[in-house]
Amino acid sequence: MPITLPDLRGRTAVVTGASDGVGVEIARGLAGAGADVVLPVRNPAKGERAASRIRQTHPDARLTLRDLDLAHLDSVAALAVALLSEHAPIDLLVLNAGIVLLGDAERHVTDDGFELHFQTNFLGHFALVTALLPLLRERQTRVVVQCSLAAAVARVEWDDLQSTRRYRPLRAYGASKVALGLFGCELARRSAAAGWGVTVQLSHPGVVPDTGIAPAMRARAKGGAQHGIARFVGNSPGRAAESALLAAVEPAAPAAPDLFGPSGLLHFGGPAARQRPYRRITDPADGARIWSVAERLLAERVRPA
Ligand SMILES: NC(=O)c1ccc[n+]([C@@H]2O[C@H](COP(=O)([O-])OP(=O)(O)OC[C@H]3O[C@@H](n4cnc5c(N)ncnc54)[C@H](OP(=O)(O)O)[C@@H]3O)[C@@H](O)[C@H]2O)c1
Repeated sequence: MPITLPDLRGRTAVVTGASDGVGVEIARGLAGAGADVVLPVRNPAKGERAASRIRQTHPDARLTLRDLDLAHLDSVAALAVALLSEHAPIDLLVLNAGIVLLGDAERHVTDDGFELHFQTNFLGHFALVTALLPLLRERQTRVVVQCSLAAAVARVEWDDLQSTRRYRPLRAYGASKVALGLFGCELARRSAAAGWGVTVQLSHPGVVPDTGIAPAMRARAKGGAQHGIARFVGNSPGRAAESALLAAVEPAAPAAPDLFGPSGLLHFGGPAARQRPYRRITDPADGARIWSVAERLLAERVRPA
């Protein structure tokens, strides 16, 4: 049975990665509950199509498209500056955008000089959230951090954050999701310690074969036995969105976010439920470390010409 959200009329939600996959369904759920939903997207035409899809089920949905490419820090800064100058009300911020380049053996580096998973999934979101902190504090925003099952088994390689020595897409993806989760937990701790009022919950969608993620692998797997099994044990995008939707509305303990994810076999699929966050993303020392490393990387980055 799908979850029922409280009345969110008068509330504003910003959902990254809402032009495809699970993010469309997160935005649909929030818009259906009456929230004004901002969709920051890197591809405006795709964003328009996602908005049309949402309006098919919710014709009165209050949706606004904005530009955001997490792989370009100037784009992240431009969105933050615009929202700050508009004094935009942000009651809910869902960090859902993500990539995993499975099936692509080549290591990609952004114009800002960072490995692509690291920047898209983690550093870009870090830059966005820390720039928006004045707005988040003002509205006591709930931040939802979309992790992954991969974060349960991956780890941050502190001496090789950019996977320069050894690159494998799944490893880089997992590390970026651990970094994102560590950041989310550290944000909760800092907020509680300093009285910012920002609350954090973590989510993961399980395994969701029918989204745009991992295009190279999808092209190979589509229609095959692997895809069939994944569909059978995994989640539809709609059901997968329930984890982040619950994380958006469930009460959060200060300094100690919960994790919401599918409750079925191996947590691949099924209805969303509260779970224990993975130890590798709750470690306070690692959380403080990823925060200061990210601050240093952003301060030292060589700006693209
Ligand atoms: N699918 C799974 O099995 C699975 C499992 C575990 C965790 N997750 C996580 O769930 C989240 C949603 O994934 P999904 O399966 O829905 O994938 P998806 O269908 O590929 O959607 C990913 C979204 O992120 C956006 N995005 C990618 N790079 C971006 C960038 N540089 N700047 C701004 N936006 C960017 C995409 O924009 P475009 O539309 O322009 O591509 C898209 O809207 C991700 O964080 C993913 O890591 C997914």
